[in-house]
Amino acid sequence: MVAAKDWVAEAEAILGESSVRVLRDVPLRARTSLGVGGPARIVLVPERVEDLAQVMRRLAAASVPFDFLGAGSNLLVADEGPSFVVISSQGLDAEPVIEKETVRVGAGYPVPRLVKRAASAGLSGIEFAEGIPGSVGGSLRMNAGWHEGMFGHAVATFTAISRRGQVDEVVAGPGTFEYRKSPGVGDRFVAAATLRLRPEDPALVRERMRVYHDHRVGSQPTGAKNAGCIFKNPPGGHAGRLIDESGLKGLAVGRAIVSDVHANFIVNRGGANYGEVAALIDRVRDEVGRRTGIVLETEVVVWR
Ligand code: EPU
Repeated sequence: MVAAKDWVAEAEAILGESSVRVLRDVPLRARTSLGVGGPARIVLVPERVEDLAQVMRRLAAASVPFDFLGAGSNLLVADEGPSFVVISSQGLDAEPVIEKETVRVGAGYPVPRLVKRAASAGLSGIEFAEGIPGSVGGSLRMNAGWHEGMFGHAVATFTAISRRGQVDEVVAGPGTFEYRKSPGVGDRFVAAATLRLRPEDPALVRERMRVYHDHRVGSQPTGAKNAGCIFKNPPGGHAGRLIDESGLKGLAVGRAIVSDVHANFIVNRGGANYGEVAALIDRVRDEVGRRTGIVLETEVVVWR
């Protein structure tokens, strides 16, 4: 790993020879649903898998640290911004190509839009994800879900790029996806996916989407700035219920507050900073641990 102060210079030298689009000093509070976080010094916006693989090979060879950004809906970023290169899936947003029951789509494509496209094409299997505010790549990497539905269940194959820049088309199978994680993806970048869905009357698919929508809006703080669930559910339990039963709804640190609607959400009331959110996470974990003996693990990804 190159020393922290050198990674920008190292990266710039590599990027000078690359055709990948580069953005500089990008405020991440504008690219995360929680609305917290300082600038990313370097954001790569590749539009072709091969270009990205090549740049990743060079970054890895020079030990320049990097990580991946999707829709930013599960992310808490430090006020100083990340101390690594950010690779965005935003330019790998190829429109869905639908052939019979399969849908090929780019990693940067938004999940709610994909769900609508599938419904219009009379395809069922991902309507549970109508309100998951993620990208295809992020939802696959985290195996995003809603009740019994998991994004991974619909995935047939996906294009993965290893941190050393090796591109593979991976066939999903048993063990590829688990609760809120995807061992079959590991720490690779997801560039595209092929889903396998089922033919269904579009009206029925839309009706199920409406039921999911109403349930979600009634049970989660959908209108407020948040990063989804902060903690993973402990085995056999629900983090939200434990936090609620510990009396922590409404607990605030500065402008960060535990949601009154669902206790496993932290809401940014406007202008919250990293320190406030991180302190609130620690207080909730400590308090729940003290009262129940269960130590909650964070689900939200933290970038510092
Ligand atoms: N509950 C409370 N108080 C609360 C919140 C929930 O008592 O403040 C109770 C509910 O009444 C219910 C139980 O806890 O009996 C479970 O609540 P819910 O159905 O909302 O599910 P969850 O386990 O809290 C999980 C996912 C959510 C996902 C919902 C719906 C995790 C960590 N969370 O929440 O995912 O949207 O199910 O499928 O797995 C996310 O991953 O970011 C996320 C929001």
